Amino acid sequence: MPKCFLVTGGAGFIGSNFVEHILGTQSGVRVITVDALTYAGSLANLEFAKGDSRHRFVQADIREEEVMLSVMRAEKPDCVVHFAAESHVDRSIESAAIFESVNVCGTLSLLEATRKYLDERGERREGFRFIHISTDEVYGDLPIEDTQTRFKENAPLRPSSPYAASKAASDMFVLSYVRTYGLPAIIARMCNNYGPRQHSEKFIPCMIQCALAGEALPLYGTGENVREWLHVEDACRAIAAIAERGRAGGIYNVSSNDARSNIEVAQAIVRAMRPYVAAHNMPQPTIEHVADRLGHDRRYALDATKCANELGWTSGIGFDQGIGDLIKASTSA
Ligand SMILES: NC(=O)c1ccc[n+]([C@@H]2O[C@H](COP(=O)([O-])OP(=O)(O)OC[C@H]3O[C@@H](n4cnc5c(N)ncnc54)[C@H](O)[C@@H]3O)[C@@H](O)[C@H]2O)c1
Repeated sequence: MPKCFLVTGGAGFIGSNFVEHILGTQSGVRVITVDALTYAGSLANLEFAKGDSRHRFVQADIREEEVMLSVMRAEKPDCVVHFAAESHVDRSIESAAIFESVNVCGTLSLLEATRKYLDERGERREGFRFIHISTDEVYGDLPIEDTQTRFKENAPLRPSSPYAASKAASDMFVLSYVRTYGLPAIIARMCNNYGPRQHSEKFIPCMIQCALAGEALPLYGTGENVREWLHVEDACRAIAAIAERGRAGGIYNVSSNDARSNIEVAQAIVRAMRPYVAAHNMPQPTIEHVADRLGHDRRYALDATKCANELGWTSGIGFDQGIGDLIKASTSA
């Protein structure tokens, strides 16, 4: 296992959970979190690391190559885990330019900084890993009725949204650095994550907050779109396994294969909220269909057998348990 992690986007949802996972499971480790603290990142997400001398926070933008290189020179990480991104599909539909700037150019700057850092390290580059966190959305979607097809890691990239296009482009740059410079990078393509500290704009936190506010749960279109849902704790275990045992140059799909339509997810939240709303004399939550997202992908499905076979990773937290825990935490906060 690496001894020093540089985690970009570590003040965001998955990044902060990963930092907590590493500090909680590895003794003698150091973690450097780099985050620009955009609308999506917050130091409150790193509260658990306060006073932990093994952790350092650096506020910086991954697009600043020289700054990233100087952080690497100073801290000497043996693993970069790259979460930093503009991550909200709806925002990318409103305005795509920042997605190109951060997700594509930012990843390229970080790759360049890493390449120079590794050149300076000479033979001490042995064992170094650059883990690029990507998404199932790069493969595009499948028809709802096709419940058999699953995308393997070698499937062609057919992104639909500007967000997915920017992630696919960043994956391509990572692969080009593997091939051209021998950069020991790995790509993890993950399905939808959920869990603590997810931004309130995202589907599940938005639904829970509406229910708590006594408002109808807004559901895009018919709600038939299917996603696979992975608890963030399981995702962090997968990324740690990739950091420890992943093959340089490899791509790993990471999924629970727990596929649910959006309306099923909304209904599960309504069910799980019932005891709380009854105890607080609130109206039962309802679901309201709203105008569909433009170009809304229908179904995502990952084949994650490589991750299981090569790394021995499988997901462990069932959806009902994960949602129940999340609602318990939200209603006791
Ligand atoms: N959330 C999911 O379900 C999911 C699924 C698959 C893949 N991913 C990928 O995982 C990664 C993390 O996703 P998330 O949901 O935690 O995102 P998030 O939006 O919660 O966090 C992103 C973090 O990146 C930071 N950031 C943004 N621009 C930056 C910049 N220029 N420089 C430095 N930091 C910057 C933000 O401040 C924030 O803390 C992303 O790359 C995303 O594409 C997410």
